[in-house]
Amino acid sequence: MKNYKKDFPLLMQNPTVYIDNAATAQRPQAVLDAVNGFYQRHNANPLRGIYELSVEATEDYENSRRAVQRFIGAAHPEEIIFTRNTTESINLIAYSYGLSNVAEGDEVLVSIMEHHSGLLPWQMVCRQTGAKLRFIECESDGSLDLNKVEALINDKTKIVAATQVSNVLGREYPIREIARMAHKNGAVMVADGAQSTPHIPVNVTELGVDFFAFSGHKLYGPMGIGVLYGKEELLNKMPPFLTGGEMIESVARDSAVYAEIPHKFEAGTVNAAGAVGLNAAIDYVKGVGFDEIHRREFEVSGYALDRMREIDGINIIGSDKAEEHNGIITFTVDDVHPHDISEILASDGVAVRAGHHCAQPLLKHLGYRATVRASFAFYNTKEDADKFLESISTVRERMGYGKQKLL
Ligand code: ALA
Repeated sequence: MKNYKKDFPLLMQNPTVYIDNAATAQRPQAVLDAVNGFYQRHNANPLRGIYELSVEATEDYENSRRAVQRFIGAAHPEEIIFTRNTTESINLIAYSYGLSNVAEGDEVLVSIMEHHSGLLPWQMVCRQTGAKLRFIECESDGSLDLNKVEALINDKTKIVAATQVSNVLGREYPIREIARMAHKNGAVMVADGAQSTPHIPVNVTELGVDFFAFSGHKLYGPMGIGVLYGKEELLNKMPPFLTGGEMIESVARDSAVYAEIPHKFEAGTVNAAGAVGLNAAIDYVKGVGFDEIHRREFEVSGYALDRMREIDGINIIGSDKAEEHNGIITFTVDDVHPHDISEILASDGVAVRAGHHCAQPLLKHLGYRATVRASFAFYNTKEDADKFLESISTVRERMGYGKQKLL
């Protein structure tokens, strides 16, 4: 088995069993080198100067845009807007498209599986416009009944927003089918790809989505760089989200002509180093390949899931099948608060996330207030899973609930 950790300096230097990859992944040397290389060799403010360094910085930045375009199968580079993260991308759609296209009497349909970043922007749109916010609900195992989804979409629906992969359940949702239903009723489809892009190949054209958002940092790229894909004809008609420098053609005292897309949506100095780092991350991920990523994540998280089922008092949330988890295992331990579980894991050198995972409505829908989430990436090994399993198999006993069946 190839040791991919060798590509990741932090994993080589730090003994922590890092299985909080759904929160943020680690970065390979290639990404660190690319960011460093940009600042060491090409740094200038992109899109502004006509001297060599600024031209190079602009080329680096625009090459990264084209790399993202190819990575997600967008038709045009102008359809790729660089943002800070998924949250900003979805806010951009909500403030720009949402507030201009949704009115009182309309409906916005979101899934209950959304991360708060895919919910709160739509709450804001509905509050400001008087539209009604409605919810697609999953079954208790996290699965979705498409007949129920279809019944919720009607001619009042203006926006359907759904996550492609849940950050709590790891389950992938049928975005293509939901997009088809949305379009049949004249609504636009917004998909959150924050948790899908690190695990599965995405093609926005095949998915048929109108908007698609994701973050660099979960895809082994830098923090602070995110992507919004939008269909050209929609982006062209949308007002800017943020205004200021670099997003204009010309400015007079009391008016301005905005730049064409994508620059209309990229006000201020851009995060060129972040974009360059994301380009390197995409290269790295392509080099490993999604088949390999899937195979490794399935193998290690599948092994962990099977062993967890043998430990007394552990409840796994979501599907029974490892292939429906994309490396994410969310669970509780009887009688023990998730924060205590994660503290015990931390004391054993295992990093996981505990709490509501920024998905409170989903947890409530499933009957939980808080849970623990272990999220495996392709670089995690069976040894990582074993350290995690050893630790969770002692949690109840260490909290004073008597002997557990130990592994
Ligand atoms: N969205 C990230 C998570 O699910 C931070 O943990």
